[in-house]
Parts: sequence; structure tokens; C-alpha cells
Amino acid sequence: MNRIALLAVMAIVSFTSCSKERTPGEIDHQKMGEHGMTSDWKFTLPKGDTVEGKKVFAEIECYKCHEVKGEKFPAVAETEKGIGPELSQMAGMHPPEFFAESIINPNAVIDPKGKELGYVGDDGKSKMPDYSSILTVKQVADLASYIDSLKGQKSHKQAGH
Ligand code: HEC
Repeated sequence: MNRIALLAVMAIVSFTSCSKERTPGEIDHQKMGEHGMTSDWKFTLPKGDTVEGKKVFAEIECYKCHEVKGEKFPAVAETEKGIGPELSQMAGMHPPEFFAESIINPNAVIDPKGKELGYVGDDGKSKMPDYSSILTVKQVADLASYIDSLKGQKSHKQAGH
């Protein structure tokens, strides 16, 4: 399974590095079309399972850095708490592929305010660990689906806010 995950990561990495190396004018769309690739092609993640994704989120302890308001994950001791954005309103903010990229290639997009928010270390890299050699593609898709399902708190107490 991990090998499949690695292959997918390599595919994503090689795709992104290709697009960086080439100037737009050099892309031969006709040639790509010959291989069944249209000019509007984009990487799509397999459909994930939201319930499974929540389980993975708990098992891998993503909640140690990411609070998800309204969800019941184990309490985290102050000394074990890491820093990361709260995720309860992520639904619709980004496509699932963006969430997946955050998990398997955390340095691809770094929040411009990352430094002041404490998300970025002194080395300029995201404090989000790279899970590409730990998770299977299915687990990444499930996590992305779970995060994409988070529409914020629905409890009555918070409704007045
Ligand atoms: C050690 C702390 C830490 C752990 C553990 C961690 N993250 Fe993160 N995560 C971060 C930080 C810091 C950022 C913000 C980084 C940035 O923007 O470059 C982040 C960003 C993200 C984002 C992007 C959020 C956005 O606003 O676009 C997602 C999605 C995410 N993490 C999911 C996860 C998942 C799923 C796990 C568990 C598999 C996990 N994280 C584990 C620290 C962590």
C-alpha cells in the first residue's frame, strides 16, 4: 500500500516540477492529447470515505496540532500540543486535492502569514509533518474527505455567535 502512496506522490511531484520547469508556451497540448490528456487536465483524488477519514485523523493524532471545534477527540496535554490551524470550517474552502497536498507535501503552499502565526519554523518550512511515507493513498483521500465535510459547529450553544 505504501508503495502505491509513494507512486501517487511521485506522480504529483513530477507533475508539479514539470509545470515549474516549462514555460507555458513550451507545453505541447496536441502531444498531450495524443496520450489522452486534455489541456484542462488536473490531478483528481479518488473519492474518500468521511467516516474512515475521521478515524485516521484520531489514530494518527492530527488533533494534537489541529483543533476541530465541535468534535470530540482525546484531550491533549499542554506539553504535547502542537501548533496548527483550527479546521472546523474547512468545507468548501479548498478542493479535496488541496487538503491532500497539505498532508503529503506540506511545503507546497505555505500560508503567507505562516511565520507570524507560528506555522513556519526558523528553517522557513511548515511545521506540518510530511505524511507521504506513512499514509496510503486511500487514507489521504479519506482524510481529505473528512476535512472537506467540516462545516463548523452546529451545537445550539454556539448558534448565537
Ligand atoms: C506538528 C503539528 C501538526 C500535525 C501533527 C498535523 N498538522 Fe496539519 N498543519 C500544521 C500546520 C502548522 C499547518 C499550517 C501550515 C501552512 O500553512 O504551511 C497545517 C496545515 C494543515 C492543513 C491545511 C489547512 C489550511 O488552512 O489550508 C490541513 C488540511 C492539515 N494540516 C491537515 C492535517 C492532518 C490530516 C493531519 C494528520 C494526518 C495533520 N494536519 C497533522 C501542523 C500540524
